[in-house]
Amino acid sequence: MRIALTCNIRPAGYSEKYIEWDDPSTVETIIQGLKTLGHEAEVVDCMQRDAIEEKLTSIKPDFVFNIAEGLTGENRESVVPQLLEKLNIPYTGSGPETLMNCLNKSRTKTKLQKHGIPTATWCEIDKPLAKLPEKMAFPVIVKPLYEGSSKGIHNDNLVDNNENLLKKTGELLEKFQQPMIVETFLNGREFTVAMLGNGDSLKVLPIVELNFDSLPAEANRLYSFEAKWIWDRTEKPLEIFTCPAKLSEELKDEIEATARNAFRILNCRDWCRIDLRQDASGKVNVIEINPLPGIIPDPHANSCFPKAARAKGLNYIDIINCVLTSAIERSQ
Ligand SMILES: Nc1ncnc2c1ncn2[C@@H]1O[C@H](COP(=O)(O)OP(=O)(O)O)[C@@H](O)[C@H]1O
Ligand SMILES: [Mg+2]
Repeated sequence: MRIALTCNIRPAGYSEKYIEWDDPSTVETIIQGLKTLGHEAEVVDCMQRDAIEEKLTSIKPDFVFNIAEGLTGENRESVVPQLLEKLNIPYTGSGPETLMNCLNKSRTKTKLQKHGIPTATWCEIDKPLAKLPEKMAFPVIVKPLYEGSSKGIHNDNLVDNNENLLKKTGELLEKFQQPMIVETFLNGREFTVAMLGNGDSLKVLPIVELNFDSLPAEANRLYSFEAKWIWDRTEKPLEIFTCPAKLSEELKDEIEATARNAFRILNCRDWCRIDLRQDASGKVNVIEINPLPGIIPDPHANSCFPKAARAKGLNYIDIINCVLTSAIERSQ
């Protein structure tokens, strides 16, 4: 097959602004993987929105492998899938509506809640918040409504009084120019679950647990921007993930069932990674859903999806092959 890889290649450096875009090593490794699988493969860098259609029209791909996060705005992840639908080119991964729903953390939670999937109580705000709503209790975490890769989620986004709430919400609203969600902080164990496939053949890969004891002693127990991008460097990785997580059968079943339900309710396709955390009573809650999961190829870098795949004996090319095969099967 002739396959185009739609992506957003990150400019050099670890600035927070560029953090969700793709590392050149990811793009190169996917292209090599597609070629190893016997396909023709070409990169379509989507950093110039106006050039995407022209490039696709000239390549005329049979299929697109889509990892493009998009550029700006709350619908940015849907831009490429929408264009591919207009051009009638089949592609891997979730469709525009799912990408839009999952990027918006409040909309995801509303859908989960409607279907009875546990998710922490929250409120959405577009003005600084002076007092916590009655249904909520401190501590809470403040997060930008539609970011990812821990962008805007710093160690000090955890707030435990009204004074700091007003200060933090004001500061983040100003910095990110988008609404925030204020969410009850779940203080239990945290897990992330990588999934591959669709329908009855949806596979849940070995569960990853986040090991917050590996963070600096004074750090809050959350996977913050600092934890993901500053304290954890390839040359000196944090021992942040345990995979497979050590779990009782009961807890493993609860995590897997919750992740499967969330995948189905949000209409995810082909692959996805779901973040979950236990509340004070031990119940597993969904934090958020990532239908375009990060896949950094370097096994020394802490990238959850490839790590979970390796624990199941799947290498990087196996991930690419599984995503592509699932997408081809459901597109027929
Ligand atoms: N309600 C919550 N309770 C506890 N920790 C949370 C909560 N929401 C987010 N976190 C922490 O912040 C991290 C990043 O939040 P998340 O919503 O997954 O954003 P991102 O899209 O940037 O990954 C999570 O992995 C978790 O450690
Ligand atoms: Mg997350």
